[in-house]
Amino acid sequence: MKKIGILTGGGDCPGLNGAIKWLVKTCEDPGTGAVPFEVIGIRDGWKGLVKGDPDRLQPPFSDFGEEGYFKRLTSAEVRPWDRQGGTRLGTSRTNPFNPKNDRSDVVIRNIERLGLYAIVAIGGEDTLSVAAKLSERGIPTVGIPKTIDRDLAGTEYSIGFETAVNVITEEVDRLRTTAGSHSRTFVVETMGRHAGHLALQGGMSAGAYVILIPEHDYDVGEVNALVARRRQAGVRYSIVVIAEGAKARGGSVVQRTSGLDDFGHVNLGGVGEVLAQEIAKGTGLETRAVVLSHLQRGGTPCAYDRRMARNFGICAVNLIQNGQTGRMVSFLDGKYTSVPLSEIIGKLSLVDVEREYDTRLYNGKRTILPL
Ligand code: F6P
Repeated sequence: MKKIGILTGGGDCPGLNGAIKWLVKTCEDPGTGAVPFEVIGIRDGWKGLVKGDPDRLQPPFSDFGEEGYFKRLTSAEVRPWDRQGGTRLGTSRTNPFNPKNDRSDVVIRNIERLGLYAIVAIGGEDTLSVAAKLSERGIPTVGIPKTIDRDLAGTEYSIGFETAVNVITEEVDRLRTTAGSHSRTFVVETMGRHAGHLALQGGMSAGAYVILIPEHDYDVGEVNALVARRRQAGVRYSIVVIAEGAKARGGSVVQRTSGLDDFGHVNLGGVGEVLAQEIAKGTGLETRAVVLSHLQRGGTPCAYDRRMARNFGICAVNLIQNGQTGRMVSFLDGKYTSVPLSEIIGKLSLVDVEREYDTRLYNGKRTILPL
């Protein structure tokens, strides 16, 4: 039986386990007489193929163990996984093509030793850039889009986004009661890296008063004027949602720590606290910052993510069945489809400010249908 390897890379999020479950189920029973595949789970993303010993292939239902990176997956084992958050395969931000430490030859050797016919990588742009490079080197790969940032090009949805939007909505609802009781302004910092989708969609769902995104630099004076105006109108509190990658006009992004990860990314975080202090200073209103941080990636997947994960997992198997590798499963214009991996690498999908964002009110656009 041909073998398919599956791994999850980059930041975890709810929905990953559902995609794995449905990939395994579809491989075992592809329907209409199609030939089934065996599935090998790879632990900790690309790191597993760098560090793992293919001779140590674990059976289903066993732990990977300290040194184990590969195990067979069966539908009996993955049956309850779709309700679980995180990733049962573990994850890492390992980049085997890091020019400072290129381990791509090890990865390719291990893929051959495992006898993998194809690899399915569930990840964001970083993880899928490795899949794209392996595809160029002749390894059949398929990508499944996942990231709460929803910043992948070539797809309008990535697994985890909607659950993270739900978390933001719930947490802001929670903040409202205490904000109102104390007449405080709250600045809520969301994730999203250099894309504002999470802040904008989360902020709109939560009914935030002001939403600040990386795609449009904010003016502190204008934010303060908006907050002060609302207070003068008799509203006791304001919720300001800010994306971690947003920056003040003329300023720069705020970093949580210096240094870069294996893919060369900065570690963003802390802009919420900076803005809270500016608002307190500029308006005289008591202002607090809350960083939602990894809570946005935690917990069980929402209904939408369960469905998308299921369908993306099945699509990945369908692509392999059709010999359409070197592609990422995608959701475009309300339909499941696929795009070449090479076309999505090195690009980011950002908020279209003109179409989606009101730069005067710092919130979602109020003209949705053409006037
Ligand atoms: O890309 C997903 C993401 O959650 C970003 O929104 C965030 O900046 C980053 O990962 C955080 O990474 P880590 O889990 O390594 O702190």
